[in-house]
Amino acid sequence: MRRWFGFHGIALVIGMTGWAASGAEVPTFHREVVRILQKHCQDCHRPGQVAPFSLLSYDQARKRGADLAAVTADRKMPPWHASSEEGGPFQDARVLSQEEVATLGRWAEAGCPEGNASDSPPSRTWDSEWLLGAPDLVLKASESYSLDAEGRDELRVFVLPTGLTEGKWVAAVDFLPGNPKIVHHVLAAFDVRGAAKKLDEADPKPGYKAFGGFGMIPSGGLGGWSPGKFARPLPDGVGRYLPAGSDVLLQVHYHRSGKVESDHSSIGLYFAKSKVDKQVRTSRVIPPTPGFFRRPTLLIPAGESNYEIKGTQTIAEDSHLISVTPHMHWLGKNFLLKAIRPDGSTLTLIRIDQWDFNWQGAYDLATPIPLPKGTRIEMKAHFDNSAENPANPSSPPVAVHWGEQTTDEMCIGFLQMTVDNEHRDNRPPPRFAAPTDNRLPEEKK
Ligand code: HEC
Repeated sequence: MRRWFGFHGIALVIGMTGWAASGAEVPTFHREVVRILQKHCQDCHRPGQVAPFSLLSYDQARKRGADLAAVTADRKMPPWHASSEEGGPFQDARVLSQEEVATLGRWAEAGCPEGNASDSPPSRTWDSEWLLGAPDLVLKASESYSLDAEGRDELRVFVLPTGLTEGKWVAAVDFLPGNPKIVHHVLAAFDVRGAAKKLDEADPKPGYKAFGGFGMIPSGGLGGWSPGKFARPLPDGVGRYLPAGSDVLLQVHYHRSGKVESDHSSIGLYFAKSKVDKQVRTSRVIPPTPGFFRRPTLLIPAGESNYEIKGTQTIAEDSHLISVTPHMHWLGKNFLLKAIRPDGSTLTLIRIDQWDFNWQGAYDLATPIPLPKGTRIEMKAHFDNSAENPANPSSPPVAVHWGEQTTDEMCIGFLQMTVDNEHRDNRPPPRFAAPTDNRLPEEKK
């Protein structure tokens, strides 16, 4: 907050000296500003959506003119945590250009002039229907979920049986948030082991409460949604395999509105219409897992404010990366995923300088990145387990281990990839081809 006062101070001084004197033409709401708001802000800042106020009209923008300039100059809004200096580029990146930031700054400094309504582009309209037409399969929980008015954000996983009697290749996935006011973002995955169903049965309310991920390791990922993200089909010949009998897991991140709200979100699946040769595979970069348990030996000492955790993985076959999903809990501070190719060239896949638990999701690459066989993926993240970290769920701080609870931590780089010389010719992936033993280890005794 302190920084903003500085900004207002500068605004005042410049306002007094007058922009006109500099000769630059002052932007107006109707000519420049509304175009920026339409493009970058209104997906969330309109009635019934996740942001707390609308930015549609001149009055709404003028009232907060200085704030709009400050939060965009700070890159606090729109919320987008991947660095635009390195990594990506990503689809639907919510990032303003330098010029757009400067325009908002000059407009605020000039006292937020309205300009002529005749300069204004038509208002935006939003389609609340499926963008890619009617899905082949729409899944939603059997009943809606009621979210309490107060408290921290909540992560809830809904287990949606597909009822599929044969495996399907999925070419596109879309989401319809039931109540966009409280649906902050959505991640989807699937489970063939019945593990999520057990968690659901143990929780009396619809779905089950999760703290970070899905509360279990899913069998594969199905992408994600956040406001402003548009469903796009996978490239021709590429699909995600959804085995017969799978449960789709819909992890919804809820943001409370101050009132009791109800939500009934759905996921729409589009099956491939042409032959699929390459399956989207989910892989994970995690910290080392010595010994027996295949669980990372993560331990973040209490009080440590910049604890480093690393992980690495080597790519076994020539591949293409299509999406990355960094995952940490409340103590996460920053996150970096790099690829070191066999020829020695290094490429940043994603860099997040200020991790925000409330804004995590799947980052889809604008174009798939080639990762030749032998490429080393290196993950490096830092955690703040000090009392100074306001997000720390433990006060005073305690030593933190690997785990699914909100007071545990994780450090995972989920990768969605295809393998270059895979030719499935629609055949199911070997993992799911043979009749699988779907029982959990404890059930096999
Ligand atoms: C993806 C959704 C989304 C987009 C896009 C978005 N906002 Fe926000 N905005 C929010 C939410 C949610 C909040 C409430 C605080 C929070 O959760 O961070 C917020 C809060 C704000 C605030 C209040 C400051 C604060 O920290 O509470 C300002 C000012 C703001 N947004 C301006 C903008 C502007 C300007 C743009 C476009 C350039 C924009 N926002 C784009 C979701 C969004």
